Amino acid sequence: MKTIADVSIKDKRVLVRVDFNVPLNDKQEVSEDSRIRAVLPTLKHLVEGGAKLIIMSHLGRPKGKPAPQFSLSPVAARLEELLEKPVRMLDDCIGESVKQAVEQMSGGDVILLENLRFYPGEEKNDPDFAARLAENCDIYVNDAFAVSHRAHASVEGVVKAAPVSVAGFLLKKEIDYFNNAVKTPKRPLVAIIGGAKVSSKLGAVENLLNRVDKLIIGGAMANTFLKSRGVDVGQSKVEEDLIETAGSIIRKAKEKGVEFLLPVDAVVADRIDPGADIRRVSINDTPSDMMILDIGPETSAMYARALNEAGTIVWNGPMGVFEIPAFSSGTMNILKDMANSGALTIIGGGDTDAAVHGSDDARKITYISTGGGAFLELMEGKTLPGVAALI
Ligand code: 3PG
Repeated sequence: MKTIADVSIKDKRVLVRVDFNVPLNDKQEVSEDSRIRAVLPTLKHLVEGGAKLIIMSHLGRPKGKPAPQFSLSPVAARLEELLEKPVRMLDDCIGESVKQAVEQMSGGDVILLENLRFYPGEEKNDPDFAARLAENCDIYVNDAFAVSHRAHASVEGVVKAAPVSVAGFLLKKEIDYFNNAVKTPKRPLVAIIGGAKVSSKLGAVENLLNRVDKLIIGGAMANTFLKSRGVDVGQSKVEEDLIETAGSIIRKAKEKGVEFLLPVDAVVADRIDPGADIRRVSINDTPSDMMILDIGPETSAMYARALNEAGTIVWNGPMGVFEIPAFSSGTMNILKDMANSGALTIIGGGDTDAAVHGSDDARKITYISTGGGAFLELMEGKTLPGVAALI
């Protein structure tokens, strides 16, 4: 993949796709800016190199229509502070007003276009919409790793319309870290997969069985695996239609010599509520009227031993209902054990990043991805459409 370091940028109109899909608070201010910070190296390289920088992104899911609550204006304000430069916010992403604004630019100027998803052509990957985006640029840059699993016009179609297309530093870094960790890892390679549903992680689990030495399972998805082994999980969430598949995954792991680790104890409660009746039980003693909401301390200790011996650790998905402190210990223990393992450690974004964000232990992790869905698709062994377009 060629990057912006390989092309001459001075006085060029450079259209950069970033993922500024960031959370806003009720005052419509950016409440968490790590996705903006993550692309600063690319944006600064372009500004300092004298490019005319035109930035584009989506925010939320406005479904093809303008909606003021999904405007990128709050992001422009935060970006100005981080770049220490004026950012001109436009009220459209294509058309005459954009063309005129770009014509007025000098090298080093910065424009932020309005939300791409205000047009239906973005998510439909409409070639005409892609061409209208590309008409204002000499160079297209994809630095939007977190949305590169979407074959959208600004991610995929635009590459066909732009004169030159290259990757930004963040996209390159994300792909390089992932490949180092999963394709050429220092062994043992241990993957931790958690979260609510086996169905959403099935592809990742199946692909990882071909690559890892140990697979650690947590979160509500562990219940389906436990049930396939005949464990009575009480009122816990189970995907009944996947019990058989879960059983065959455990058998496959055995055939391949992959150590497959499931919880041996759990934190259970009668409901998902801080005020619930909460107990710690051995996994075979889950009361029939309670549900599993976190892994227990013995499980954490067993998982810690596996992480301690690892050369590389990749983690995606929390171990329990981490939003409630009584059910967050399993998730926080994984983070602590990863942070102190001495291994190369990578965390997928989305829920996992939200669970650990800002803590001291999180700062000791080698790399935390900006991508949720995109990271998961890499774990599934897929090539992301936004990356494929650049190769
Ligand atoms: C994300 O936040 O994961 C990306 O921005 C993709 O958003 P989407 O799921 O709405 O396509």
